[in-house]
Amino acid sequence: METVTASSPESTKTSPARNTHGLHVITWGCQMNVYDSARMADVLRPLGYGPAETAEEADMIILNTCHIRERATEKVFSELGRLRKIRDERIEQGHPRTIIAVAGCVAQAEGKEILARAPYVDLVLGPQTYHKLPEMVARAARAGGAVIETDFPTDEKFDALPTEAAPQTAGNLTAFLTVQEGCDKFCSFCVVPYTRGAETSRPVLSILAEAERMVASGVKEITLLGQNVNAYHGDDGSGKSANLAYLAEVLSQIPGLARIRYMTSHPRDMDQSLIDAHHTNSALMPFLHLPVQSGSDNVLKAMNRGHTADEYRNIVRRLRDVRPDLALSSDFIVGHPGETEEDFEATMQLVRDIGFASAYSFKYSPRPGTPAAGQPLQVAEDVKDRRLAQLQALLREQQDAFNEQLVGTTQEVLITGKGRKPGQLSGRSPYLQPVHFDGPEELIGSIVKVAITTRRTNSLGGVIVQETAAAC
Ligand code: 5AD
Ligand code: SF4
Repeated sequence: METVTASSPESTKTSPARNTHGLHVITWGCQMNVYDSARMADVLRPLGYGPAETAEEADMIILNTCHIRERATEKVFSELGRLRKIRDERIEQGHPRTIIAVAGCVAQAEGKEILARAPYVDLVLGPQTYHKLPEMVARAARAGGAVIETDFPTDEKFDALPTEAAPQTAGNLTAFLTVQEGCDKFCSFCVVPYTRGAETSRPVLSILAEAERMVASGVKEITLLGQNVNAYHGDDGSGKSANLAYLAEVLSQIPGLARIRYMTSHPRDMDQSLIDAHHTNSALMPFLHLPVQSGSDNVLKAMNRGHTADEYRNIVRRLRDVRPDLALSSDFIVGHPGETEEDFEATMQLVRDIGFASAYSFKYSPRPGTPAAGQPLQVAEDVKDRRLAQLQALLREQQDAFNEQLVGTTQEVLITGKGRKPGQLSGRSPYLQPVHFDGPEELIGSIVKVAITTRRTNSLGGVIVQETAAAC
């Protein structure tokens, strides 16, 4: 999983139902956690759980955690302390005992430690066991003790989850859909193969059915999710293995589905059919998150990435050959054990060569149990700080330049809702930037052509030039 991680907690709202119990889900980390949080809400809905805006109003709180970077476990314990206080206050007010559940990758990696250090937690469940939540709630109620589920029964999960998953974002016009989970790549620095387990892919027909339901409920843009999404190899319905290009083609036939994205991809799995799909499949957006992590062959080798910097350049060249307007984003790590000044300069050079529209960059932090954590030649903290600042300055320049060159162009924008100012609408460009412009509310949900007139650091402004209700 190489996706963007949010550093602050974000509450996931669930769609209204006849709820008798309030459910508050706090989601940390990547988009797959956002998706999983919605599925946990789905699976609990038949038990009468519906959305509670705050933890103070909730009968059950789920903390869906992320383990990707430093101090993940400490953050969880500090949040649990806060939730415990809220629970105690509710009990004093005469409410029944709030159920506290810890889900996600920290639960998977540190389940036993959580129960030892925070014995007031009721449920601990890893990412592959969300379908067992109702049973776990019942078991906890019966037995009165904590229940832990951190196995990897991956085949069961998607079969057992309910089918009416609610879309999660932007006024129900855009949604995430998990198609693949887990990772076998074992990059030296990464905990994901240990917390999410081995790579598995959902069958095409099950994904198609879920996508059709999403589109029927108004979704116009779907982002296919996977820790290694382009390693997708699901059953095509006839017992053969389908790749991501095939899956995207099948989904692009759904009437009303205007846009498809996928993340996160690994350079090693960027095969020719997927590259070609960026030419032949017009629903695929020209924006690709393709993490490279480093531009130095030595570091890439130490990271066990399985490709060189030139191989990455070559993939990008082939993508741009078939789709000249394709923009890229990436993740970078500075200060991996053994990274020299020369290695770091190679990363800066790769960034200059490629030109990224956006990027996420991190200081290497040792994750317990991963190979890099035990390596000698750890890079000093002040060196990492300096390299990160230098890299981020260059990436910021590139992002500004990318946004600047869109001023004066016309972009298709999916209008996702009202803007902040009266009369203003807000939408997303093909490159995922928020775009603001004036227009009537009736246009929400359609794709319009917008002449881009201004840019800010993270958003664009413009005027509608053509109200095309593309594919809607
Ligand atoms: N230290 C720093 N960054 C990390 N990432 C993953 N593990 C680590 C680590 N130990 C970054 C990678 C990945 C992104 C999601 O988080 O860049 O692509
Ligand atoms: Fe991505 Fe490597 Fe982690 Fe797999 S092991 S999720 S490829 S960073």
